[in-house]
Amino acid sequence: MACSNVMKLNVASSSWISGHNSVNHRTGSTARFPTRRFSVIRAGSYTDELVKTAKSIASPGRGILAIDESNATCGKRLASIGLDNTETNRQAYRQLLLTTPGLGDYISGAILFEETLYQSTTDGKKFVDCLRDENIVPGIKVDKGLVPLPGSNNESWCQGLDGLASRSAEYYKQGARFAKWRTVVSIPCGPSALAVKEAAWGLARYAAISQDNGLVPIVEPEILLDGDHPIERTLEVAEQVWSEVFYYLAENNVTFEGILLKPSMVTPGAEHKVKASPDTIANYTLTMLRRRVPPAVPGIMFLSGGQSEVEATLNLNAMNQSPNPWHVSFSYARALQNTVLKTWQGRPENIEAAQKSLLVRAKANSLAQLGKYSAEGESEEAKKGMFVKGYTY
Ligand code: 13P
Repeated sequence: MACSNVMKLNVASSSWISGHNSVNHRTGSTARFPTRRFSVIRAGSYTDELVKTAKSIASPGRGILAIDESNATCGKRLASIGLDNTETNRQAYRQLLLTTPGLGDYISGAILFEETLYQSTTDGKKFVDCLRDENIVPGIKVDKGLVPLPGSNNESWCQGLDGLASRSAEYYKQGARFAKWRTVVSIPCGPSALAVKEAAWGLARYAAISQDNGLVPIVEPEILLDGDHPIERTLEVAEQVWSEVFYYLAENNVTFEGILLKPSMVTPGAEHKVKASPDTIANYTLTMLRRRVPPAVPGIMFLSGGQSEVEATLNLNAMNQSPNPWHVSFSYARALQNTVLKTWQGRPENIEAAQKSLLVRAKANSLAQLGKYSAEGESEEAKKGMFVKGYTY
């Protein structure tokens, strides 16, 4: 077979380290491998840009606003305040969020659903331009959701690799500069070796395709909060999952300097009898990350996973009490949007107040990124947990 005698070496990262342009050498046979040719994979044409994009998202005091709910999930959010799931209502809600004045002080990136990436405000300004004006990088959810994984213990796998390269190229043209792919791992279901391997492999293939098309991949194997297991069990599973993810990322020649991670925090299962303090969660989570994540990775952007707004902020704050090898920040959906939705209620006269409540949460998490947050004065609403058993996005 043509490929079997070609040895591939990844020098994808060397061009930006040395400052030279991409290379594509082919050398002939060598004494050591007399029958083999060496095909050195050229550095991707986007490598420098990917590194720059990742760094700008992982900038001090800023994190990601995740508003990439699929239309079905956005519908659930709208239903919670009595609104129908129409394109107009989704647009109105996303407009409220994306036109919040001063958002860029605390938010460096926004993950959008495809519909939003191509949408504009009611005044005709593209949402991507609203973001750029605030120095916020537009991102795009590229996975196609979860389906049952045959042969597993009732687990799932994430679809979306077919056609991903051409979709990603289109998203780049539309202004997206980073991507997100969320797959899940369930502790109560095992996790089976098959499900972990499939999750890790899918993430790695997606990451390689994204980088090839100029999008910084957010790598998100969400370890669900579901279960009554202790925190030690979550640590064990998280270590297993991340070791496989990095194994396959390396095998797929992904440039680590041009990715971002979106892990779950290491917590006890949501139904475990003992709750953990922010210090304990920070301790376990950072232990896991230090054991598994190379310092070349620029940013760790946590998901909130059903924690209350205040819990998610307190835990992030606890993780930033001493310097970390990576930028440790947030990429929250529920933990940034809950109070906003409740304040808005779909009424135009509440837009300003809802935007203010978004800024309150964004600023709180910005302070937590800097390790300077105190929960003093937080509302009761912000302390309400949002965990839903068997939650689907
Ligand atoms: P939550 O913060 O609601 O868990 O969202 C995670 C996510 O993947 C959204 O992009």
